[in-house]
Amino acid sequence: MNEIVIRPAVAEDVPHISALIEPYARAEIVLPRSPEKILDTIDKTLVAVHGGVPVGTVTYVSFASDLWEIRALVVRSEFQNSGAGRMLVEKAVENILQISPARCVGIFALTYVPVFFEKLGFRVTVKESYPEKIFEVCRFCPRQENCNEIAVERIIDRI
Ligand SMILES: CC(C)(COP(=O)(O)OP(=O)(O)OC[C@H]1O[C@@H](n2cnc3c(N)ncnc32)[C@H](O)[C@@H]1OP(=O)(O)O)[C@@H](O)C(=O)NCCC(=O)NCCS
Repeated sequence: MNEIVIRPAVAEDVPHISALIEPYARAEIVLPRSPEKILDTIDKTLVAVHGGVPVGTVTYVSFASDLWEIRALVVRSEFQNSGAGRMLVEKAVENILQISPARCVGIFALTYVPVFFEKLGFRVTVKESYPEKIFEVCRFCPRQENCNEIAVERIIDRI
């Protein structure tokens, strides 16, 4: 049985990442992402690979050097509950901490699976804590008045 490994995404992964996101976007669990959008953030995207094929992905987005979002996290259904999601988020957090010069770094996500994030050291908060996100993305969302996503955050103070 092949192991799942996490590696940085490259441009050639775009069609795979698109195919991973598509069913969850259709189910309105994550926001849709065009191939162009995926390519735009490819340097801040990771893939979980099994037998050479991406089976999971995550992107981390910077709003400021001390404020980041975990976005577009998905694992193909057959590979869920085998640690891929955890490895993706843990590696994303590690990379954020390497890139960010800030002493105290806030990382948030909007999600329907807060329990998953809580297992990774995040805690539930309120969306209004993140006006940057609301300004950038939520204001264009058709479900903004009826959003059931839960905000989770992890604040890492490196002192
Ligand atoms: C959420 C998701 C990324 C988790 O990935 P995964 O590879 O299945 O998760 P892992 O196997 O790494 O699980 C890590 C821990 O979280 C728990 N967990 C995973 N999914 C969970 C869920 N839906 N509800 C509650 N706990 C969950 C696991 O049981 C495990 O707990 P443990 O450490 O006590 O054993 C994956 O289920 C998925 O792609 N879901 C659909 C898309 C989605 O909701 N993405 C999140 C958008 S923010």
